Amino acid sequence: NIINWTSDMAEKEGYDYFMLKEIHEQNIAIKNTLIEKDNIKEIISDLDNINRICFVACGTSYHASLTGKYLIESMAGIPTDVVLASEFRYSANALNENTLVIFITQSGETADTLKALKKANETSKTIAIVNVLGSSATREADYVIYTKAGPEKGVAATKTYISQLVCIYLFAAILAQNKELLDSLKKVPSFIEGVLENESKIIEIAKKYKDARDFFFIGRGLSYPTALEGALKLKEITYIHAEGYAAGELKHGPLALIDNEIPVVVIAPPGDSYDKTMSNLEEVKARGAEIIAIGPCNDEFIKYEVADSFCIDDEISEILAPIVYIIPLQLLSYYISIERGLDPDKPKNLAKCVTVE
Ligand code: G6P
Repeated sequence: NIINWTSDMAEKEGYDYFMLKEIHEQNIAIKNTLIEKDNIKEIISDLDNINRICFVACGTSYHASLTGKYLIESMAGIPTDVVLASEFRYSANALNENTLVIFITQSGETADTLKALKKANETSKTIAIVNVLGSSATREADYVIYTKAGPEKGVAATKTYISQLVCIYLFAAILAQNKELLDSLKKVPSFIEGVLENESKIIEIAKKYKDARDFFFIGRGLSYPTALEGALKLKEITYIHAEGYAAGELKHGPLALIDNEIPVVVIAPPGDSYDKTMSNLEEVKARGAEIIAIGPCNDEFIKYEVADSFCIDDEISEILAPIVYIIPLQLLSYYISIERGLDPDKPKNLAKCVTVE
């Protein structure tokens, strides 16, 4: 038997697309990235008199940065801003020698991010969280933290996002001396395996909603960046219009759009934001929206009240939710893209590495 293997097919290791392979590699990416703990400890012990943190990034890396703001402010009490790299030059940013500026970039080559990094180096200590070894950002920044996701070929970032989150969690937990959170991170890969075992449920949901024209993704607190990232993934690879919204903001505009033609993905991990998120779920349901809820497996309300849901082990608390709850959303975008006959690895008009400003 002669089988015509291309090197591309071999690299995909039996998966149809790199994106699916990379989604499945996320548990390994986390385990490998957790090794950065000692490096992060050293960096933190080297920094002194930091009274403000500023994250700068683009795209998916920007969403990881937003998660960083929630974690650092709530656990370490250090005021933290997040600035889009392309907007950095237009705001004064008020950086000084007591500001730590953290750049997140999987490629390490994004032009907007590099430009901002050069500027921040003039006044402040800088850290780059990067996936590509030896890339430009690693040469510019004072300190480097590597996400150890391995090569990512799909244009839509998946395993690099998860690894960026792990770096941020390590950073925030070490800064806040939160040993409990540090320990709990070790358990996350097994929960991700649990999600991946239920992939068929997502395929069913993808088949049902593949022709939707618009989508909303809503969440509160730490689940807000997850909503933004879920919407970005859908836009990137399915070309369906999608918006990520802080659930509490729906009433200030988007509620006017909601009807039975717009599926709403509700991200509802157990914790402080749960009850209010459920009120928002009821609000959109009352306007006819079809709901896709991502919540804990012991949730009776979601089970009986919502048309479609995907459940995550109840042990995943609100604080860890960003690392796990994004996985079903990545899979949803992937399978909708497949159902629409598209190539999820190569979305039109987009590039893995954007070297123009
Ligand atoms: C491009 C990629 C995105 C990525 C963004 C930022 O748009 O397609 O996946 O999130 O750039 O890239 P960076 O390498 O700076 O993280």
